Amino acid sequence: MRRVGAASDSNNLGSMKLFIDTGAVSEVEEIASWGVLAGATTNPSLLAKEDGDPGDIIRRIADLVDGPTSAEVVSATAEGMIEEGRALRELHRHVTVKVPFCEAGLAASRTLADEGTMVNMTLVFSPNQALLAASAGATFVSCFMGRLDDISVNSATVLEEIVDVLRARDLESQVLAASIRHPEHMVTAAALGCDVATVPAKVFHQMLSHPLTTAGAAKFEEDWKSRPEFGEWLNGLVADHKAKGGS
Ligand code: G3P
Repeated sequence: MRRVGAASDSNNLGSMKLFIDTGAVSEVEEIASWGVLAGATTNPSLLAKEDGDPGDIIRRIADLVDGPTSAEVVSATAEGMIEEGRALRELHRHVTVKVPFCEAGLAASRTLADEGTMVNMTLVFSPNQALLAASAGATFVSCFMGRLDDISVNSATVLEEIVDVLRARDLESQVLAASIRHPEHMVTAAALGCDVATVPAKVFHQMLSHPLTTAGAAKFEEDWKSRPEFGEWLNGLVADHKAKGGS
């Protein structure tokens, strides 16, 4: 098993960036307010669940996360993907063009990458596919963990192979763990040194919760309230700070 953070040693401080995986602006508003998001991913299935103009949704999400925001092409040909990609990138400076893994997708990725467009190659399920995606200039290579588990393939093993082959070739593509279904996927992706994980709002909430955190906060509150004069002291401290023009 690779040591924690090893894949990222050369390009950042070893931390895995968190994107949100959604087409719902309200979910992005909520999780962005936590201050943890570095980007977002959408896909046709996620956007199809939402009301409203997809362009407006993508722009709003890109504004909120202020980082790479994937918008996916749907054409079957390389020419169609390139045309759609060029149009999508005009939506917002943060748009990353998401391209499905296939021969046409590789060709489209190469053209779009050569034009300076960030590409997220999606539907990658093997190290060989990842090598091809990275070689075609993809900025992000998206490995779908949950869908591998769905067919009884160990997603951690495949993800580890993908991280290892891309690092061994010194390719610059970032490994993006997608199809995250539960918090254990997050721990695995971080431990393997993935550069990014894209996470549904439901899993963000699961990551937040721990019964000992809830119980600990309740005990702190109870103990503080047992000394009302301490509450008055803290309120006075805050008031003095504001009176002095503190922010
Ligand atoms: O980012 C890809 C993701 O949306 C796929 O997730 O749960 O549909 O396999 P899932």
